[in-house]
Amino acid sequence: MKPESQNVTDYTNDNTIFMVWNFKDSPEVGDVFKKLCKLIINLNNSANVRFPVSRASCVMGIGHDAWLKLQLPVPLPKELVNFAPIAGEKHTAISSKGDLHFHIRADTTSICYDMASAISDVLAPAAVSIEEIHGFRYWDSRSILGFVDGTENPHGQDRELFGIVGDEDAAYKGGSYLFVQKYIHDLTAWKSLSTEEQEKVIGRSKSNDIEMDDDVKPSNSHIALANVGDDMKIVRDNMPFGNMSTNEMGTYFIAYASTFTTVQKMLNNMFIGLPEGNYDRILDFSIPKTGSLFFVPTFDMIDDFS
Ligand code: HEM
Repeated sequence: MKPESQNVTDYTNDNTIFMVWNFKDSPEVGDVFKKLCKLIINLNNSANVRFPVSRASCVMGIGHDAWLKLQLPVPLPKELVNFAPIAGEKHTAISSKGDLHFHIRADTTSICYDMASAISDVLAPAAVSIEEIHGFRYWDSRSILGFVDGTENPHGQDRELFGIVGDEDAAYKGGSYLFVQKYIHDLTAWKSLSTEEQEKVIGRSKSNDIEMDDDVKPSNSHIALANVGDDMKIVRDNMPFGNMSTNEMGTYFIAYASTFTTVQKMLNNMFIGLPEGNYDRILDFSIPKTGSLFFVPTFDMIDDFS
């Protein structure tokens, strides 16, 4: 029977809560995790029955150190490691610790809130929440930079092909590699650019989201460097967030992939540059504050863990 994947290939919803939790040094960690696994299955099943049109789901990812701490099966998923920072001449993709990642989606904020609250109640005795971002759909799916984000994502069956582990790692078939980075944008600098200049940074037109022709698209534009070929794609589900009082306007970058190598190639192009030094200009306006890799097991595996 085909293993049942978590909801990694669904499209971006209107509301999202992202949470990262780290385990404490507590004897309760193992029991709490078992309880959590039961809860994740329960939350997804219950949302499907109670709110079928809300496309609500909660995806749980597990980091490398947590996998070992929880004594989950060995050998580990082939590419599950602690993300190693990528340092370019000017910008660095930093690495940050994350034991568990939750990606909660629904078209109603109340569902997201209740799921986050239920997870927190179970985890609180044995873990601390180190990151929580509430993302929202901004107009017609734009990033806070004002450009439509997600257009060149794989569609149809390609979402599964590029988002879910296949036969290459049979023990973990149906799982997915999850990579996240919280970016804060320098909107003052960004807004000082003309629309034409901003379009050169992204490589697409701003109002109607059309890709520039190859002969005019700058080689240091975001899409020139992030596009690593038609056979190497990822499923992105980025969400913008914004807080005027702290002046934190950002993008929560989130990607699901059948292989982490693809994400790494994109990051190398963006941060180190292609050729070296020709880095992604989006980084002059976007600072990564976190960077963590997780593995998203199938529901069958989560059931075993519980
Ligand atoms: C600073 C945070 C980021 C923002 C605001 C951002 C925004 C965008 C926008 C507006 C597009 C064009 C529309 C689209 O096809 O989605 C795009 C494309 C893309 N981005 Fe990003 N992005 C960010 C970070 C990243 C990172 C870290 C990666 C990879 C590790 C990445 C990978 C891609 C890919 C693969 C495409 C499609 C390229 C193509 O085939 O045309 N992005 N992004």
